[in-house]
Amino acid sequence: MSAPAPPLALLAEVTHRCPLGCPYCSNPVELVRRSGEMETAAWLSLLEEAARMGVLQVHFSGGEPTARHDLEDMVAKAEAVGLYSNLITSGVLLDRRRLESLAARGLQHVQLSFQGVEPDGADHIAGFEGGHARKLACARLVTDLGLPLTVNAVMHRGNLDRLDDMIALAVELGAQRLEVAHVQYYGWALRNRARLLPTVGQLDAATATVEAARRRLTGVLVIDYVIPDYYARRPKACMGGWGRRFVNVSPEGRVLPCHAAETIPGLRFERVGERPLAEIWADGEAFERFRGTDWMPDPCKSCDRREVDWGGCRCQALAIAGRADVTDPACELSPDHRLMAAIAAADAGIESGEFVYRRLGDAGG
Ligand code: SF4
Ligand code: FES
Repeated sequence: MSAPAPPLALLAEVTHRCPLGCPYCSNPVELVRRSGEMETAAWLSLLEEAARMGVLQVHFSGGEPTARHDLEDMVAKAEAVGLYSNLITSGVLLDRRRLESLAARGLQHVQLSFQGVEPDGADHIAGFEGGHARKLACARLVTDLGLPLTVNAVMHRGNLDRLDDMIALAVELGAQRLEVAHVQYYGWALRNRARLLPTVGQLDAATATVEAARRRLTGVLVIDYVIPDYYARRPKACMGGWGRRFVNVSPEGRVLPCHAAETIPGLRFERVGERPLAEIWADGEAFERFRGTDWMPDPCKSCDRREVDWGGCRCQALAIAGRADVTDPACELSPDHRLMAAIAAADAGIESGEFVYRRLGDAGG
């Protein structure tokens, strides 16, 4: 096989620390503690390596990336080596001074998550009192500084009926893009699926809302929206295909094809510094395992969408079907699709129950 093209983007998960406790967190159940995080110098040389191998963008994420006080150094390094830098943040730790400092060092885009449109509901699900008000303030600071803003609206059964209001909020805040991000059920989120999965009726209404808003807001707001996997007929190309578009680095420096890849048993993940990033990407065992189409079983192997969705999501196949090397059960053609439909029917019908919040504490410095 010929050498793969370099990834478009580096997803730099610089920390798992986060002041929020969202029940739908898709990070692993076992989080990396502060003491296990990769040090500044290693992140800086990783950014240099990424740029050298042809990566164009870096997305700083977490956890909450602003919990690291050396984020400014990383942003400055990204700027120096010509990487477009995007900050994926909850915004609750960002004040004007910090945001100005990041912008001055070259930050080019902010992607700000919202849990709802009104404080009580949003703060309840984030498990962080006052969080919504801080996010609103943060959004205003971002646009004041002239940085492009994407609102990342995390939607689920509890707030999907307010999608129209969420769209209005994104417009009011001056966002250029709204990502309607249905909760993805990986990691911690699996524990709360029965409280979060929307009903079919909610989903149909949301799809109609998005279609109407797209017509109304052409030229004002771009809306990204995909049907959640549990109700889809075909899977999405997770990560744009395994080992094709993105390289993910975990807080402790493991080089991963996606942020949930460590849930897959039997894969060996190399660490930053063990070998050049370009080599790990090109022929690392974990990247090679599901790259392209050679690994595919039927029905993917003979399907004309195999180079469109690349067989869907490996982590979801593992979570639902118990194996990562089978067709994503989100696909109607998968023999395991009925499992997905059965879960959707069962979980979306559950009326109550308490959220299981996650806590890593230690969100400062
Ligand atoms: Fe995609 Fe595989 Fe389903 Fe075909 S069979 S649509 S390649 S997941
Ligand atoms: Fe791992 Fe989709 S989240 S492949």
